[in-house]
Amino acid sequence: GEETQMSVPSSPVPVPVPDSVREELSSPEFQADPYPVYGRLRAEAPVHRVETPIGVDTWMVTRYEDARAVLNDPRFTKDPRKAPDIMRKFGVPEGEGLIQRSMLNADPPDHTRLRGLVTKAFTRRRMEALRPRIQRITDDLLDGIASGEEVDFIGAFAFPLPVTVISELLGVPAERMDDFRRWSAGIITPPFSEEAKRVRQEGVEELPRYFGELVEERRAQVDPSVPPGSQPDLVRALIAAYDQEGSLDHHELIGMLTLILVAGHETTVNLIGNGMLALLRNPEQLALLRERPDLLPGAVEEVLRYDGPVERATMRIALADVEIGGLTVPKGALVTVVIGAAGRDPGRFPDADVFDITREDNPHVAFGHGIHHCLGAPLARLEGQIALGTVLRRFPVIELVKPDEEPPRRFTVGNIVRGVQALHLRMHAN
Ligand code: HEM
Repeated sequence: GEETQMSVPSSPVPVPVPDSVREELSSPEFQADPYPVYGRLRAEAPVHRVETPIGVDTWMVTRYEDARAVLNDPRFTKDPRKAPDIMRKFGVPEGEGLIQRSMLNADPPDHTRLRGLVTKAFTRRRMEALRPRIQRITDDLLDGIASGEEVDFIGAFAFPLPVTVISELLGVPAERMDDFRRWSAGIITPPFSEEAKRVRQEGVEELPRYFGELVEERRAQVDPSVPPGSQPDLVRALIAAYDQEGSLDHHELIGMLTLILVAGHETTVNLIGNGMLALLRNPEQLALLRERPDLLPGAVEEVLRYDGPVERATMRIALADVEIGGLTVPKGALVTVVIGAAGRDPGRFPDADVFDITREDNPHVAFGHGIHHCLGAPLARLEGQIALGTVLRRFPVIELVKPDEEPPRRFTVGNIVRGVQALHLRMHAN
C-alpha cells in the first residue's frame, strides 16, 4: 500500500514539471547554468512537483518570498525521525546516519540545545580574531602559485584555504583533507540512485567512525578543570560539554563534528571559486573591485546571491498541509527550497541576472533563513573577503586559460551545492 500518508488538500495542488523540463533538470547545460530553467519554473508557478527515481516526489519552491516563508515555517520538519516513510524509501536504516543527529536535522527543542552549544564559538567577534591566521594561510597558499603559470585555482587555493581553517578550528589534522572531502561529498549525496546510495554510505560510515576514534584519543588531553568554552579547539570543547555537563549524547557529539566538518568542506570553496569565475566573466566588475577594495564585502554578498555555494536547501518535510503561494503541498511532502532560484527572483532583486557588486539592497537567502540560518556565515564571509581581496591585490592580472569553455561542474546528486570542479587560470603577480 501507499506508505506516505498524504491527506486530501483543500486548495489546488502543485503542477508536476513537464517531461521536457524534467529532462533539462539533469542535462549538462543545466549543470552549467541552471538559472534560465529555474527562471521559467519561477515564472510559471510557485511550486512544482518533481519525481525522483526512487519514488519520492520533491516539491520545488523557487520564488524569493515563498522560499523565506518555507525556511521559517515550523510546519516543516527537519527531523528524519518524524518522517519514517520517506527515510525508508531513501533506504536509510532506522537509527542510521549520525549526521542526522545534528542541529541541521533537528527541530526545537533539540535544535535549540545543540546549536546553543556552539554558537559562541562562531560569533563574528570570535571569527574576527581568526583574521590574522586566515590571512597567513591565504598568503602561504598564494606563495605556492607561480606567476603566469597555469594553475587550478580550486585545488591550489579555493579548497585548501577553508579546509585548513575548519580543520584547525575543530582540531583535526588537515593532512586527511582528501579523505574528508570524499566522505563529505558522500554525506551530502541524497540516495536518489544505487550509485548515490553507495557513495553516501561510505561517507555516512567512515566520517563518524573517524570522529569516534578521534574523540576517544582526544579525551585524555582534555583538561577537566577548563570549561568547554575555553578549550583550545572544538573537538575538546564538545568532549568537555559531554563529560562535564552531559549536554549532548555521544551520537550528537559525533553528529556535530561531522556536520561542521562537512559544512566547512562543501561551501566556502565554492564561494571563492564561483566568485572568481563571476569576476572574470564580468571584467568591468573586476576592474571596479580592483579600483575600490572597499566594495569587497558587498561583492562577496553579490556572489552569494548571484551564484551561491548552496543551490538548494536541505530536506524539509511538511507535517501538515501547507499552502505556498496559493497552492497546497500535502502533509508528508518533501519540499525543496531552491535557494539559487530565489536569489534570481526579479520580484525581489531588480536586474536579478546581472552581477552587480555595488548592489545595496541585497537580502539574499544564500545562508538560509530562520532557525537553521548558517552558523558559519561570519566565518564564510570573512574567508571570502580575505581570499578574493588578497588574490586581487597580489595578482594584478588574472586570466582564464580557456575563456570560451565551461569549467567542469562539481556535480552532486540533488544539486545541494553549486561550484566548479576545477578552474584553470594564469595569475600574474606584481
Ligand atoms: C546551515 C550555507 C559555510 C556551518 C546552512 C544553511 C545554508 C548554509 C543555506 C541552511 C540549510 C538549510 O536550512 O537547509 C552556507 C554557505 C556557506 C556556508 C553558502 C559558505 C559560503 C559554512 C561554514 C560552516 C557552516 C564555513 C562551519 C561552521 C553550518 C551549520 C549549519 C549551516 C552548522 C546548520 C545550522 C542549523 O541547522 O541551525 N549553511 N554555509 N556553514 N551551516 Fe553553512
